[in-house]
Amino acid sequence: MPELVLSGISKRFGAFQAVADLDLTVGNGEFVCLLGPSGCGKTTTLRMIAGFETADRGSLLLDGVDISNRPPNKRDIGMVFQHYALFPHKTVAQNVAFGLLMRGKSRAEQDEAVARTLQLVKLAHLADRFPRQLSGGQQQRVALARALAFQPSLLLMDEPLSNLDAQLRDEMRDEIKRVQQEVGTTTIFVTHDQSEALALADRVAVFSEGRLLQYSDPAHLYEQPSDRTVGRFIGKMNELEGRVVNTSPDGTLVALAGGGTVLCGPSELPSGTSVSVMIRYEALSVAPLSGGHRDAGLECRVSRRTYLGSVIEYELILAGKPLRVWMPNNSTASRLSIGDSTTIFFNPSDALLFAV
Ligand SMILES: Nc1ncnc2c1ncn2[C@@H]1O[C@H](COP(=O)(O)OP(=O)(O)OP(=O)(O)O)[C@@H](O)[C@H]1O
Ligand SMILES: [Mg+2]
Repeated sequence: MPELVLSGISKRFGAFQAVADLDLTVGNGEFVCLLGPSGCGKTTTLRMIAGFETADRGSLLLDGVDISNRPPNKRDIGMVFQHYALFPHKTVAQNVAFGLLMRGKSRAEQDEAVARTLQLVKLAHLADRFPRQLSGGQQQRVALARALAFQPSLLLMDEPLSNLDAQLRDEMRDEIKRVQQEVGTTTIFVTHDQSEALALADRVAVFSEGRLLQYSDPAHLYEQPSDRTVGRFIGKMNELEGRVVNTSPDGTLVALAGGGTVLCGPSELPSGTSVSVMIRYEALSVAPLSGGHRDAGLECRVSRRTYLGSVIEYELILAGKPLRVWMPNNSTASRLSIGDSTTIFFNPSDALLFAV
């Protein structure tokens, strides 16, 4: 049975629709990320699941039971907040014991759960410290331990890594994934960082303006975005305007607005349809004009070269429009200079078509 089922959940603040008609199912043991730009309704959704906010419409089932009208402390949900919200005058062990204390567990049960959970997050040696005596990463681990200690059915995390510096964020990301896999708790993790979502989630729910745009596993989301908004939000995307010339088993031939034709992935779009061709920076390659590639029909000129370390980003002018390409910093192409003429090619299935 699916663990959490949201059906038709909506929330308004005055005239503002923060979440609109949301359907979302999270399976038992699944790790789901809610991803989207600032203000798209991620926290509001999480707070409705936790019970801090009441939905105007819709239902919320946890393990088959409607929990819509239950207060937060009766929902069997653990929560980690962006600013940790640790109790400053309690020790690490007392912070972690809090949820068990609230649930009337005996002292022995509390001690056992605290020891077990601190072991899990590798903080057993700091049990008697106070939060102010801990680093940011350690405080984050305490917050995670506190949310997990009473073995909730569901773990909710709202941007738990956004206070940490980049390196620690990567470390804690891996740590959260390890802990979640070890305990198997169904988890919903809110972030506006796409790489975090792709790295952590079994499935990612992409939100925009209170609506769920796509709900898929990371590879599917990245390779087959359901619309242009999702495509633009995840990864780096070029967009070319054009018109469908014809379709065949080989793919869809598109005449670009600035001149030239390109072969894109197969589609059912009729001839004449106005389309946007979307191609990721890393899906494009550049080769010298004599390269002899099958699709070596698109000539362009290098207008900018940006050194990014592992890749070189080129801006190329194709039929008057700029395109960006990432080439690994070891290829012949990484030696192109501004003003050089080159040929651009790509695998047709990497060119995504959307009717506009
Ligand atoms: N209590 C409230 N009263 C009025 N408007 C609210 C309230 N809470 C949230 N909103 C509005 O609802 C929208 C969604 O807010 P929410 O906090 O869910 O966004 P978010 O996706 O979590 O954004 P962020 O990434 O910035 O945290 C925002 O426009 C916000 O201003
Ligand atoms: Mg938020």
